[in-house]
Amino acid sequence: MPNSNDFLDIDDLTTAELQSILGQATALKRGNDDTQFPNRTLGMLFEKPSTRTRISFETGMTELGGHAIFLGPDDIQLGHGEPLSDTARVLSGYVDVVMARLFDHDDLLEIAAHADIPVINGLTDDAHPCQTLADLLTIKEEFDGFDDVQVVWIGDGNNVGQSLVIGAAMVGLDLTIVTPPGYGMDQSVLEQAAALGQPPTVADTPAAAVNGSDVVYTDVWISMGQEEQRDKKLAAFEGYQVNESLLADSDAQVMHCLPAHRGEEITDEVLTGTQTLVWEQAENRLHAQKGLLVELLSKN
Ligand code: CP
Ligand code: NVA
Repeated sequence: MPNSNDFLDIDDLTTAELQSILGQATALKRGNDDTQFPNRTLGMLFEKPSTRTRISFETGMTELGGHAIFLGPDDIQLGHGEPLSDTARVLSGYVDVVMARLFDHDDLLEIAAHADIPVINGLTDDAHPCQTLADLLTIKEEFDGFDDVQVVWIGDGNNVGQSLVIGAAMVGLDLTIVTPPGYGMDQSVLEQAAALGQPPTVADTPAAAVNGSDVVYTDVWISMGQEEQRDKKLAAFEGYQVNESLLADSDAQVMHCLPAHRGEEITDEVLTGTQTLVWEQAENRLHAQKGLLVELLSKN
């Protein structure tokens, strides 16, 4: 049975739940909350590689007094022909919550349809809501809330950007997006943000978008699984690099979900310079996901 506590995209939360998770994350980060879930186990299914998602979830479960199991593509029968549905049913009998990083978002929906424990999206080709939790936590901390903060998304209109668009709309964050022709966000995502009352502003050029902004956020141009599109995408994204020239007259802070491809979507100077939030943003994956786990495990 699908579980009402699934976290498949950011708007599976109500705005109140989202704000509560961000508050819980801050309390956990500051050592002001000692919630523990002894003997609770997280199963982590990975079709794609990961540094931040894997380590932050595993560490997060340890810090919450529980345990996490890494299940890579070669580790379990899923990678050898066992259907997603059977894997989901069986996992439900062993673990308390499952996090999955998959290519096809429909495969995540298939797992959710057959699991009777909460299912967390650890990234699909379409969405990365755990990243959005950390992104919103980082912006909230840096600017003491979301009021009057102008964020710009420069780059590809896929997973990380799409979840950010919806999350920004949920908290009333002012977001401008600029994506190359042919690589925009799905129309359904823009409609979801509009339905939440805050569609992103669409800019024509990166320079126009950056003007007056507080945060400039980008992601890789060649996402995992798109390697054969490399030449075509490099050509399409020319002029969309976040570099010192783009930020010459800007005091905006830079965000990036990582991993970064230096020299493509961002330069080393900008990524590791003084106007960067990326390392705080990466650390916040841990705190934000602990907040999410507290929310989900408290109900199950
Ligand atoms: N940002 C992010 O999800 O990083 P990983 O691919 O290392 O998990
Ligand atoms: N858009 C990137 C995000 C990685 C965290 C990808 O899908 O590879």
